[in-house]
Amino acid sequence: MSTNTVIAIDGYSSCGKSTLAKALARKLHFIYIDSGAMYRAVTLYFLREKINLHDHAAVEQALKNIHLNFNSRDYQSHITLNDEEVSEEIRQMPVSDNVSAVAAIREVRHEMVRQQQRMGRSKNIVMDGRDIGTTVFPDAQLKIFMTADPNVRAERRYKELVIKDPNITLEDVFENIAHRDYQDTTREESPLVRAKDAIILDNTNLSPDEQLQFALDKLSALLEP
Ligand code: DC
Repeated sequence: MSTNTVIAIDGYSSCGKSTLAKALARKLHFIYIDSGAMYRAVTLYFLREKINLHDHAAVEQALKNIHLNFNSRDYQSHITLNDEEVSEEIRQMPVSDNVSAVAAIREVRHEMVRQQQRMGRSKNIVMDGRDIGTTVFPDAQLKIFMTADPNVRAERRYKELVIKDPNITLEDVFENIAHRDYQDTTREESPLVRAKDAIILDNTNLSPDEQLQFALDKLSALLEP
């Protein structure tokens, strides 16, 4: 019988899922896996190679040529795409603007879910994304569904992005988030929905420490004999 613990964190874009997931992983000495980074790296490859998203054969062939790896030093998620470190580039707007369309492709999702399930087999992990508690790990011990006011989310993400790209505007970021929310919740293939047994965490007015404590309290309550 498997005795590993899986914590699944799902929710809307730019809700602070990765901040909480990393803090939990650090505190519990679990492995952190950023599933969104995988969809982003696939998107980067598709953009570079100009893959037609409607051409199923081209998508399948491209997926065979993509090798993703995480290097989880310091509980940050460093991802490589065919041995190239792409952690910075996958956060830029060209990828952000296209990732939801790529993440809606059935073949892409099947391959990512397969890889994610393999990573979580027999290890203690925290994974964040959109379908972790519903599709990837429906038996996860703790499932958290995160949400926050869209204006607060846009401001938080804007502050991060403007450091690297001074031309970016708050409106651009807000629109991107609204667009991704729409695409993520309305796509046919495993849309973003709260798993029935997921605990809702609205962090509009919560500090990172308060969120961490909330999750730790829920986990200990669930794991109590
Ligand atoms: O978490 P993120 O913003 O880095 O995710 C990037 C995109 O990938 C997001 O728009 C939706 C998609 N995604 C997904 O469909 N399923 C996941 N498990 C993780 C991310």
